[in-house]
Amino acid sequence: MPLTTSKQILEAAKRDGYAVGAFNTSNLEVTQAIIETATEKRSPVIVSTSPSAITYAGIEHLSTIVRSLAEEAPVPVALHLDHGLDFETVVKCIRNGWTSVMIDASKEPFAGNVALTKKVTEVAHLAGISVEAELGRLVGIEDQVVVSERDASLTDPSEAARFVAETGCDVLAIAIGTSHGAYKFKGEPKLDFPRLREIAGRVPVSLALHGASGVNKETTAKAIRYGAGEKLASAAGVPDEAIRQAIKNGIQKINIDTDLRLAFVAALREVLALRPEEIDVRKLLQPGREAMKAVIGSKMELFGSAGRA
Ligand code: G3H
Ligand code: 13P
Ligand code: ZN
Repeated sequence: MPLTTSKQILEAAKRDGYAVGAFNTSNLEVTQAIIETATEKRSPVIVSTSPSAITYAGIEHLSTIVRSLAEEAPVPVALHLDHGLDFETVVKCIRNGWTSVMIDASKEPFAGNVALTKKVTEVAHLAGISVEAELGRLVGIEDQVVVSERDASLTDPSEAARFVAETGCDVLAIAIGTSHGAYKFKGEPKLDFPRLREIAGRVPVSLALHGASGVNKETTAKAIRYGAGEKLASAAGVPDEAIRQAIKNGIQKINIDTDLRLAFVAALREVLALRPEEIDVRKLLQPGREAMKAVIGSKMELFGSAGRA
């Protein structure tokens, strides 16, 4: 079916109490893994592209890959700009067929974040495109030594309500203790659920959780077994139970990139180690694509989006 917006996908999730995965892609194989799995699981899905993924693949090519696979699929798919940092990138994506954009001005002071987000929202809404914005900074709670510093980096509930009212954004990414990448927590994983509940009570739009990868121990062990560095042994992500709690407390969009990278790299390392004579690119990439499909499928079950489309 034709691409849809994130707003449409997420409003259904908010109404029915589940969440939808936003999985990052930068090429054909990852996009196939995402959309094929969404089809098999009968799940809506958001295909996310960071500015660096767009540069890597080329904006027209990435748009064409996602669009052609989505149009064949019988489930709702949104093509989303992840962490767009400026107005120009947003406009380029809208011109090239994206149906959902994120403007991430979270490093700006509140007023600057509002101003840029509002400017993006006005233009995107004219084009029928939904807008995600971010308030708060994504740093792991354990990374912050001083409690006052920790609180300053997490999303303030009353600011969140003002931010959404002033900008008109459709989706709000919030900071409650997750961070991007494979090394999220040094000690106990800890998310600020009371804060999430308060934000969800005050903000009428859908909420997004970035930095939500689980970092599966078997996957990192396999990657290490086949030659990845030992540093990976200290990788830690968001446990499944915390994801369930996040959904229960008001999250509708869940961003996953690292888990796909880890699954892919473990499978690729394995095939390279076990079949050193193999030179067919397709045979080297296929196990990685299958491994990503397995991860995406289990996320769709965990998020409750399986069977919703
Ligand atoms: O949040 C960022 C995503 O993981 C994308 O990362 O800029 O390396 O594509 P990237
Ligand atoms: P992870 O690094 O936890 O996969 O988070 C990805 C993300 O938030 C992309 O925007
Ligand atoms: Zn993110």
